Amino acid sequence: MPMLALDFGTSNSAAALAHPGGIWRVPIDGRDTLPTAVFFPADGGAMRIGEAAARALAAGDEGRYMRALKSVLGQPLLHESRLIAGRRRTLAEVVTAFLLTLREAAERATGQRFTGVLSGRPVHFHDDPARDAQAEADLRACYQAAGFSEIAFLPEPEAAALACHQTGHGLGLVVDIGGGTSDFTLFRRDGDRPAILASHGLRLGARISTRRSRLPTRCRFLVWAGNSGARWAQPCCRCRVPCMSIWRPGRASPFFTRPNRAGRQR
Ligand SMILES: Nc1ncnc2c1ncn2[C@@H]1O[C@H](COP(=O)(O)OP(=O)(O)OP(=O)(O)O)[C@@H](O)[C@H]1O
Ligand SMILES: [Mg+2]
Repeated sequence: MPMLALDFGTSNSAAALAHPGGIWRVPIDGRDTLPTAVFFPADGGAMRIGEAAARALAAGDEGRYMRALKSVLGQPLLHESRLIAGRRRTLAEVVTAFLLTLREAAERATGQRFTGVLSGRPVHFHDDPARDAQAEADLRACYQAAGFSEIAFLPEPEAAALACHQTGHGLGLVVDIGGGTSDFTLFRRDGDRPAILASHGLRLGARISTRRSRLPTRCRFLVWAGNSGARWAQPCCRCRVPCMSIWRPGRASPFFTRPNRAGRQR
């Protein structure tokens, strides 16, 4: 039975299939990625997703527009029911409806039925391990409710490393600054398939950082160096030359330092 690969992102989602010739991204609404957004018209009409949801919002249609659904996974809010466009529903039901729409789009595009899904997941949905496990369990339950019976997860930066078709040998680093999380994978390529050496992730992404102003517009790159610590580089505020430092496990993450007196993040 073929597996559908799904990247359920905080900002954007995508579906793809592996075939002997490579990877085929399933077009949804004519595009191979779509905003993770839904719109429920106030008149009780059918839920719109992706660009159609954004168009409804831009047109000023009456209804409820929702984004960043992924960020609610692992939180009690996911299971609280709300009155949305005249009907009480939980955010878990909304996530399920979104995933179901992707499955149906893939089935229409291929003429195949998908009961298996390989889903991306951030390295950590949450810093707290219990809440992190709950988030994966929540997403699994949504996939089940959307009709998938075989559900597997792969950390998103590891999926990117495995899909990386660079040639040659040596170390590679995936830096995936997403809408909800930032995820990193260090890999070594000695043959055809890269070996994953280490992965790490933070619940800090473009959407969250915009609200909290914690992630500077210039990105900081984190490179794992075994268990001894991590080396990170940050373009200097004035000269934009990377300033190198060492971050060791157990110390405060350089990603969460407070702004200095000049208001800049160090
Ligand atoms: N040129 C840009 N400048 C600033 N932000 C950008 C730019 N392009 C995209 N973004 C933002 O980057 C974020 C990451 O988008 P992406 O599609 O990778 O996130 P995602 O995969 O949905 O999130 P996650 O993987 O965290 O669940 C989005 O919030 C988007 O608004
Ligand atoms: Mg992503």
